[in-house]
Formats: sequence, structure tokens, C-alpha cells
Amino acid sequence: MIVLGLMSGTSVDGVDAAIVDIDGAPPRLSVRLRHFTTISFSPEQRQAIFQLFSPETSRVDLICAMNFRLGAWFADAALQAIVQAGLTPQRIDLIGSHGQTIHHLAGEDAPTPSTLQIGEAAVIAERTGVTTVADFRVADVAAGGQGAPLVSYVDWLLLRHPHLNRAAQNIGGIGNVTWLPAESSSSPPLSFDTGPGNMLIDAAVAHVTHGAQRYDEGGRIAARGRVHKGLLAELLAHPYLHHRPPKTAGREQFGAEFAVSLWPRARALGLSGPDLVATLTAFTAESIAQAYRNFLPAFPDEIILSGGGALNPTLTAMLSQRAAPTRVRRSDELGLPSNAKEAIAFAVLAYETIHGRPGNLPACTGAHHPAILGKITPAPPMRM
Ligand SMILES: Nc1ncnc2c1ncn2[C@@H]1O[C@H](COP(=O)(O)OP(=O)(O)O)[C@@H](O)[C@H]1O
Ligand SMILES: [Mg+2]
Repeated sequence: MIVLGLMSGTSVDGVDAAIVDIDGAPPRLSVRLRHFTTISFSPEQRQAIFQLFSPETSRVDLICAMNFRLGAWFADAALQAIVQAGLTPQRIDLIGSHGQTIHHLAGEDAPTPSTLQIGEAAVIAERTGVTTVADFRVADVAAGGQGAPLVSYVDWLLLRHPHLNRAAQNIGGIGNVTWLPAESSSSPPLSFDTGPGNMLIDAAVAHVTHGAQRYDEGGRIAARGRVHKGLLAELLAHPYLHHRPPKTAGREQFGAEFAVSLWPRARALGLSGPDLVATLTAFTAESIAQAYRNFLPAFPDEIILSGGGALNPTLTAMLSQRAAPTRVRRSDELGLPSNAKEAIAFAVLAYETIHGRPGNLPACTGAHHPAILGKITPAPPMRM
């Protein structure tokens, strides 16, 4: 099948679209990437989405409308990717769309475990003419899981090594690890959010550049700064980092509110703008290494990086330093471009759903059982 995966993560940087050829069935699934693109959100689009995240700024009519607007934006991203790949929508067998998470209340302390991704699949199916699977997380939450991480199933399918224990580390807005024991071992995988990914770095960059930049391209700002050991130690005391998995993190822990609380502290300690960005970059790197030491069965033999953070050399160098002698590699070296991995994952999950197979790993999400994920919106009749 030719399957198109759509994703927008907690960074709200844009819609990722991956077109992949998928063949076979687990554990031998073959996945080949044909094309990948990110259609960036405009500042107005980004602002309108951010507004929905917090009860203070969100409204039910805004959510209602944004569900349909996002559906149209996701459909446009899909159509652009299809044209760029030299294909037509008729050639696409299936779309898998993660949508945009606007709220996630799935921890143990949530009174009603729940999660909300929007980006209406009916609009995507209508505009593209392609059967669309969406809303993957809710079945896992209904089965008692955290609804995340879902990418771990795809990590498990595509990234295990015959003899080495690997950690597949995604650094999106949030950091997430999937522990992949060697194929030769019979121990189960494990997955959880390690803490912040790029979210705090992005917030600090926007703050210190007065909005002129929205992320630390090439890690250049952090490279000019010095890590402040005292502030780093304070950050590492964050309670989230000390909770045992299963656990998931989001804007609720490391979003704007937390970020804004850091600015006066950094000023009081005398940090320059680059020092602040460097310290938050070190926080992400150290929280990942610390999570491995505290919560994985053993320190991994290899770390496979993906997500936008894999493109930040200052961040990856800080992680390599803390993980040595463990080798840190980008998933690109294993045939999975690091910025495309999550979109590829939702194409694979849609493929699994349409074949009636489960897509969650209960060992990773905490669900009581494997669940077939997502809701299928059929293509409109009479495709021309
Ligand atoms: N060239 C780059 N240099 C540094 N950071 C980058 C680069 N490209 C992407 N990023 C970081 O990755 C983030 C987007 O990562 P992504 O994996 O799309 O996250 P999400 O899944 O949360 O949308 C950006 O906000 C930015 O912080
Ligand atoms: Mg993104």
C-alpha cells in the first residue's frame, strides 16, 4: 500500500507529511519512505492553535471551528506532499492522521483519563478522496493506557537490533524514549516521556530574541552560552523527572507557564540570553541521560535519535557527552529520516488498523490489552 502519514506535535511548528510504501505484516513489515515534507504553520495559525491549549484562553466555539480548519490544513499538507512526490491522490491507498493534541489528561491523577486530538478526518477524506484513519490515542486511553507513546510500536518494529539494547529517543516538543531490548533477549520494551525536548529551548529563544526567532537553528545560540550549573540543578529537581514510568508529559508540565516562571530566576542569577538557552539545552540532554540511568533496565548500548532536536548539534553533543561511551546515532543512518519518523509512524499505524491489527504496546502505554487504534473515515463515494 501507499500510505500517507500526517502529524503535528506539541511544538506546533507545522504539519509533517510522509508518503511511504508499506508491505508485509509484523514482525516483518517493510517500510520505504517516498517523500517527506513539513508545511509550516503561519504565525497566525500557530497562535490560533496555541490559544486552544489553556482553559484561560480557549473557548468551545473556537475548538469547534479549529477542528474543521485544521482538517483542511492537514488535507492541504497531504495534497502538497502528493504533488511534490509526483503522485496523484488516486494513487494513495490510505491516510493516517494524528491530528493536533490540544489537551491530554491521561496520567494516574487525572479524574477522567482523556485526550483530545483535533483536525477533522471527515474533512481530510472529503478533500483528498482518500480513506482516513485518525484519532489513534483514544482507544488506548479507553483501554486504561496513557494514549502515549504510540510511536513505540513502530520503533519496536523497525529499530530493534539483533544483539544490542537500543534506546530510540525522539526529541520533539517533549522528549520520549522507547527502550528496545536486543531481539535475542525476551525482555519487553518500555517507553515513556523523558521530559522536555525542544519546548523550553524554543520558548527561551523566542524570549531572548523578542520573537525574532522561534527555535535555536543549528544550536547556534546555545553554543555561544555557558551552562549555569545552579539553575540546571534546580531544573533537574522538577518532580516530573522523578516519577516512575509509565508517564507522559506535555505543555501541562513544560509549557509557557513553566517557561515564563524561569525568566525572572535566570535574570536574578545573571544569565545572558545565550546562557539561558545553553542551560535549557543542557536540561533536555541531562534529563534524558538521567531518565536512562534511573528508569531503564540498563544503560542502552546505542541511542537512536529522531525528531527536530536531532538537528540541533549543541543538544546532540551535550547528550553524547553524558551518554559516553554509548554511541548516539541519528535514525537517518537506519533509513528513517529523523524529522519524518513520527509521520511515518502514523502511516504505519493506519496500515495496521486497516488490517485489523493492534497498534499499541501495552508494556509502553500501560493499557490493559492491545487495542486496534483509530477511527476509519471512508473515502467519499465515486472517486474520479
Ligand atoms: N535545524 C534545527 N536546529 C535546531 N533545532 C531544530 C532544527 N529543526 C527543528 N528543530 C527543533 O525541533 C522542533 C520541532 O521538532 P518536531 O520533531 O517537529 O517536534 P513536534 O513533534 O513537537 O512537532 C522545533 O521547534 C525546533 O526546536
Ligand atoms: Mg513538528
